[in-house]
Amino acid sequence: MSGPTPSAGLGLLFSQATYRAPLPTESFEGQTIIVTGANAGLGRDAVRHLVRLNASRVILAVRTISKGEEAQAAIEEEYGRKGVMEVWQIDMAKFASVRAFAQRAQGLDRLDAVLLNAGIWPKKFEMAEGHEATVTTNVISTFLLARLLLPKLQETSKLTQTIPRMSVVDSDLHKFAKLTTKKDDRIFEGLKKPVTDYDGRYHDTKLLVVLYGRKLAAQMSKSGQPKVCLNFVNPGWCSSGLNVREGAGVAVAKRLLQRSQDEGGRMLVDAIALVPRVEERHGQYINKMRVEKYAAWVYSKEGEATAEKVWAELNEILEKESV
Ligand SMILES: NC(=O)c1ccc[n+]([C@@H]2O[C@H](COP(=O)([O-])OP(=O)(O)OC[C@H]3O[C@@H](n4cnc5c(N)ncnc54)[C@H](OP(=O)(O)O)[C@@H]3O)[C@@H](O)[C@H]2O)c1
Repeated sequence: MSGPTPSAGLGLLFSQATYRAPLPTESFEGQTIIVTGANAGLGRDAVRHLVRLNASRVILAVRTISKGEEAQAAIEEEYGRKGVMEVWQIDMAKFASVRAFAQRAQGLDRLDAVLLNAGIWPKKFEMAEGHEATVTTNVISTFLLARLLLPKLQETSKLTQTIPRMSVVDSDLHKFAKLTTKKDDRIFEGLKKPVTDYDGRYHDTKLLVVLYGRKLAAQMSKSGQPKVCLNFVNPGWCSSGLNVREGAGVAVAKRLLQRSQDEGGRMLVDAIALVPRVEERHGQYINKMRVEKYAAWVYSKEGEATAEKVWAELNEILEKESV
């Protein structure tokens, strides 16, 4: 893909420097919500806002239980609300762990929203479950969990006569993805080979999320199943533990452009809120708390053809890993 035009790039910088996310105000009273990667970064701040907005049950899905319990204790102290948060273990780099988590979630009496937030931007090429680790965590496990939790969200839709929401945390960086394997017959196979431009792998995974996610949303609309809103949220560049880089230039850019972790959390919570006309967000890209367009390439002939291949290949992988 050719990437965004210089004016689009400038637009991104301008938006980073000037947009400030307001506090979400929609109530989550009575609702049960799962947040992955909830112990740190944007996920942790999303949990803070969910507790502030009166959610009844918030499940912190974390790799390390003790880190989740530390976040839980701090948020309980901040808001004085106990008995709301629970810490459940999940390792998104292990398919068996994702399946075990989803199995446990089948026991919930309702599931109103899921924030698929856990993600990585590693500095060196590593494998996990036979795929490159960023692909495994940000894409395969994310959609494995999405698919396994979907029936519970649909069940809740029937039960509550509302529209449950599921949001995958994406990024503007999908617009900069090169996805060099896009012309291959087997896109995911090509991604298993070590590459020199490894930093761009993160962008590739965020594009793969968009390509597969739009298809999944379209299939959900056609299925005749109860309505669930699936969307993709871009928090923009926020302070967090992700892709920490040092240097004078980075420090200046951070001061001028970076949003706070709290602002990131606000935007994530907005994406799973039961807002008026929530169904209009289905399949859409949520940026600055409103629906915006994905990268223009996503809607191009090549983008659509690549999405077809991603859909077929990832479905094959997910079918194998679902049991
Ligand atoms: N910060 C930004 O500027 C920005 C911009 C656009 C999109 N995003 C997206 O926002 C999401 C959250 O990132 P962040 O910025 O908050 O980064 P972060 O501070 O590094 O937090 C990432 C979270 O994901 C968890 N995680 C990573 N690998 C995991 C695994 N295998 N199993 C379970 N949990 C795992 C981490 O848990 P551990 O503590 O155990 O590692 C942590 O809780 C990501 O999807 C990221 O791509 C961030």
